[in-house]
Amino acid sequence: MTTQTDRQRQREAAEETAAADAPAAVSGAWRHHHVLDLDDFSREEIETVLDTAERMREILDRRIARVPALRGFTLVNLFYEPSTRTRASFELAGKVLGADVISLSAGTSSVAKGESLIDTVRTMRAMRADAIVMRHSSAGAPYLAAKHTDAAILNAGDGAHAHPTQALLDLYTMRRHVGDLRGKRVVMVGDISHSRVARSDLWGLATMGADVVVCGPPTLLPRGLRAAERPPTAGAALPPVTIETAIDRAIEGAHVVIALRLQSERQQGGLLPSMHEYAAHYQVTAERLARAHPDHLLMHPGPKNEGIEIAGEVAAGTHSIIEEQVTNGVAVRMALLALLSGGALSGGAPPGRKPSGREQPPPGGEAVAGDETLGGDIGGDLRGNEGAR
Ligand code: CP
Repeated sequence: MTTQTDRQRQREAAEETAAADAPAAVSGAWRHHHVLDLDDFSREEIETVLDTAERMREILDRRIARVPALRGFTLVNLFYEPSTRTRASFELAGKVLGADVISLSAGTSSVAKGESLIDTVRTMRAMRADAIVMRHSSAGAPYLAAKHTDAAILNAGDGAHAHPTQALLDLYTMRRHVGDLRGKRVVMVGDISHSRVARSDLWGLATMGADVVVCGPPTLLPRGLRAAERPPTAGAALPPVTIETAIDRAIEGAHVVIALRLQSERQQGGLLPSMHEYAAHYQVTAERLARAHPDHLLMHPGPKNEGIEIAGEVAAGTHSIIEEQVTNGVAVRMALLALLSGGALSGGAPPGRKPSGREQPPPGGEAVAGDETLGGDIGGDLRGNEGAR
């Protein structure tokens, strides 16, 4: 009879065997201590993440997906907003790599008693957290956290500003299907103004050389997309894209179509006449996708609202790779933890280390520096609410 102890021993033996050939992060370009957005990632750095993710997919596809590569590493998930995919995939990524994983929700932590973001982050670091994954409704919150801890901060979505790990998993998923993205027509349809995924995807896609088209009603396209509208502080400007308000023109010849959810929790009122009208003009349907490239891919970061931004039949159709995005999300987050742990496992960056480049708060990000209220929201023109046209 196999006892629990036997099973434990078998499991440990399997882990030790796996450890012997445990794929590590590839030795490519990498200079980050935090992952806050993709606006400071070079093409080479993105490729390093995607190549490492490929190795992590191999681990995930094993019968026993466990390697002890991050044994002794502590990962904290700190979520001030709801999440299914991002939170679960970071948890799984840490566990597959053997890290200790702690997950906290704002509602059930001492945040509910008024503890500040900075105190919460410092408390986690005092427990020897090596990395903190943070989702927050205020743009800039992860930048603030990064200024107050030497733990690695991974932005899991901050307001309408950025969602870099989603963008990396999107890039990885596209690369697996279409290879080099240079010259590929990638169309994002929906609520561009309030989408942190759209913003981070734009940076990543532009860096990888894709031909990016954004499409939505004028009220859901942010100011700052057209060069002429860019503020003089061009540091925060988004990369150049083609803007289309007619979905049929946008989708024409597309290699990839990304449908985006209406971010009603971040919208002001009056941006749309009605859901029905929005769906009639902007829903991604089979009829509309018939204009795309014959081998097109259909993506959605989730959560999706079928019948509004995407028709159920295409979400479950043969061109859809939406579920694969979810699986790849685990691989990409494993890759990021592996890359970041290069410093963290050997003791982390020295205390007081000055972050480089865009690891500094983005323009306007200092608005959250008071922490306790976190009332400021960075992004200004790029956030687009007030710039609705
Ligand atoms: N795409 C995404 O961020 O999904 P969750 O909100 O479920 O994490």
